[in-house]
Amino acid sequence: MSRSISSYGRVIGIGSYLPKNIMTNDDLAKIVETSDEWITERTGIKQRHISEALVDTTESMAVEAAKKAVADAGIDPLKIGLIVVASTTPNVLFPVLSATVQAAVNADNAMCFDVNAACPGFVTAFVTAQNYLKSGMVDYALVVGAENLSNYTDFTDRGTCILFGDGAGACVLQADPELRYDAIMRAAGKRRECLRCETYMQKGVEKTEEFLKSNYINMDGQTVFKFAVTEVPRIIEDLLNKAGVSADEVDYFILHQANRRIIESVAKRLKQPLEKFPMNIEKTGNTSSASIPILLDEMKKDGRIGDGKKKAVMSSFGAGLLWNAVLTDI
Ligand code: ACO
Repeated sequence: MSRSISSYGRVIGIGSYLPKNIMTNDDLAKIVETSDEWITERTGIKQRHISEALVDTTESMAVEAAKKAVADAGIDPLKIGLIVVASTTPNVLFPVLSATVQAAVNADNAMCFDVNAACPGFVTAFVTAQNYLKSGMVDYALVVGAENLSNYTDFTDRGTCILFGDGAGACVLQADPELRYDAIMRAAGKRRECLRCETYMQKGVEKTEEFLKSNYINMDGQTVFKFAVTEVPRIIEDLLNKAGVSADEVDYFILHQANRRIIESVAKRLKQPLEKFPMNIEKTGNTSSASIPILLDEMKKDGRIGDGKKKAVMSSFGAGLLWNAVLTDI
């Protein structure tokens, strides 16, 4: 296919996968000192999907979501020129997850690599793929976010174990010269200490109790909360100014599903009605880089997006600290 080299990619297929096992707030209250009331009020989460041990791996969830996205796009997988999988919790260091996805969906012509940008991973992978499309290097791309956070969750720490869930989501992008697209990505490495998970193999490191604890998600929840409610509205405003679009013109603000109160605060700061901020956190918890594509899949299935005529902002934030925002028609 010949085309102008100034084409960003339109989302033409979406898919997602959630493990069958559901853990409710009441289930958690049997493990740690918490309650359905506390979790619901502070986070908006009622339940989360938890991977079944040795059945749902990050690879298997990424593959399931990718297969559905490719089927939804209805294209010959051999047209896909690029696969990027975002994950901060891969079950293998290599082969890269994207190569496993490539084999599973028979996208034999695709180049493959993974992105680890914690919770902002999917949007980071999406922006990366958009630039490959824009350069003319590929015409179709498959972008996946897949996470198995429960493997890295300390189920004795009530400050973190209530938040996270597992799952995967994927999108197929097709170069389209008509598409509106803009993006901003930011990072503040000097503020990285508030959110850490130090899983690693390193010579000379003793496997002490402290070491084992550092291999779980360690988080200063309030600091992360304050960072999100300050920086997310700021980056969205900057993006809209850059693109010359007003917040009123945006149909949906599709935010990383980390905490209902964060989303409510962003809506308030942007002076936009909460109805423009779709949420599924009640059912999924925070699935990190999978949260936005899982939500996109739900929105396409119920008809809120998919005709290419909705103006949407996607924005995510997380460990690093990293945050980003994308404006696109969807
Ligand atoms: N159940 C009951 N009580 C609890 C629980 C719980 N699950 N967790 C904490 N508490 C207690 C605390 O011990 C504290 O008690 P104290 O006052 O006696 O000391 C009290 O509740 C208040 O604790 P805070 O930490 O101040 O609670 P907060 O309102 O900040 O809510 C939360 C905590 C939900 C973690 C919130 O800070 C948050 O959502 N932060 C953002 C986290 C986030 O989004 N992280 C993901 C980023 S993305 C990524 O890359 C992974």
